[in-house]
Amino acid sequence: MTPMVSSPACPLAGAITVPGDKSISHRALILGASAMGVSRIRGLLEAEDVLATLAAIRRLGVKVEAAGSEWQVHGPGVGGLAEPTGALDLGNSGTGVRLLAGLVATHSFVSFFIGDDSLSARPMKRVMDPLDQIGASFWTRSGGRLPMAVRGAADPLPITYRLPVASAQVKSAVLLAGLNVPGTTTVIEPQPTRDHTERMLRHFGAEIEVEDIDAGGRRISLAGQQELLGRDLVVPGDLSSAAFPLVAALVCPGSRLTLRNIGINPLRTGLLTTLREMGARLSLTNERQAGLEPVADIVVESGPLRGVSVPARRVPAMIDEFPILAVAAAYAEGVTRMTGIGELRVKESDRLSAMARGLTACGIVVEEGEDWLDIVGAQGSPPLGGAKVPTGMDHRMAMAFLVFGCASQRPVEVDDAGPIGTSFPGFADLMNGIGARIENAQ
Ligand code: S3P
Repeated sequence: MTPMVSSPACPLAGAITVPGDKSISHRALILGASAMGVSRIRGLLEAEDVLATLAAIRRLGVKVEAAGSEWQVHGPGVGGLAEPTGALDLGNSGTGVRLLAGLVATHSFVSFFIGDDSLSARPMKRVMDPLDQIGASFWTRSGGRLPMAVRGAADPLPITYRLPVASAQVKSAVLLAGLNVPGTTTVIEPQPTRDHTERMLRHFGAEIEVEDIDAGGRRISLAGQQELLGRDLVVPGDLSSAAFPLVAALVCPGSRLTLRNIGINPLRTGLLTTLREMGARLSLTNERQAGLEPVADIVVESGPLRGVSVPARRVPAMIDEFPILAVAAAYAEGVTRMTGIGELRVKESDRLSAMARGLTACGIVVEEGEDWLDIVGAQGSPPLGGAKVPTGMDHRMAMAFLVFGCASQRPVEVDDAGPIGTSFPGFADLMNGIGARIENAQ
């Protein structure tokens, strides 16, 4: 355990970049491992989650090399993976295990997946259901929990699958399995989720069709057993990481911060929309296309925030940002209401109750329901803080409460900042570089 403490230190100022996008980094490695020939990746997130996916694709027989600031993946082509010699250990990474389960589900060998205590508590049934229809077989602990063994289908079948939960991981698992299926695999998503997989499949040369259907949903069809060709990729900065210094600057009086080269895929920017509704002073400059994804520089200035209701339909576009939104809400005037957030209970921790418990300990009034949370803001004066918050092996809970302590009346301690390394190596140094005071606790 690495306890850390964040003491009030305002204002925050500077111009920073944040590490590469985690979702895009996993996909770059996995699609590189599915293509024929060399893929060169720049800006890859070199954090524990992505390095676990990298180690897993090596175990599946794919050569991956670092060459300066670039990573080169020597892909064997669709269907070309080898039976792994040992268990695939995905550490803390739900994205890693679910996407790779899809990939191996249409290779006719057996793979074993393991992970840390947090990952071993998370549900895998959501990927097992569609992959079972394709022809793969699974063995897990009770409740569909890791460890998990997968026997890939020898004669995989094309399916049409309607997602019962809005999940980019499940959608991606089905599409990755579909790469090695004769015929067309279709995923129907009633609510759109991040589309990095679809964009990247197209970039690698796959024939993929995306149609809008009623009520904002999408139908995605991928023709299987096409040849993908190795490509060059550039990974933008992760908005889900940028969100932490961004909210810190919003709540620390007198702050002005520029975040450079941040991915602004419209299916990821729900937090920016919500913060603007709360009155945040945010502007996007230098908007451009960096390879497959739109990016921009974000300029943020501190100022008063007011509570808002976050509509349930926006949840997929900010699914990882609720812990840091909860911090913004604690500093706002009035009530912030989050609804339709039941999925937060099955993230790296049960974030819904972790947010409620942590905020309460820091002097904030909250009301928690099965899939909603109301947060009563501190009404203009800085919230109390002064608590020791358990992070439950969850990087985003750790970072959110360290941001809480940047402007509260008393310091905030987290019991374990270790998990921050899964997504945002160098978080404390970067924050301290703009004026924060985040240190190891005694
Ligand atoms: C991710 C999808 C989301 C998100 C996760 C990354 C992805 O999970 O919470 O951090 O890269 O596809 P769900 O698919 O469970 O919503």
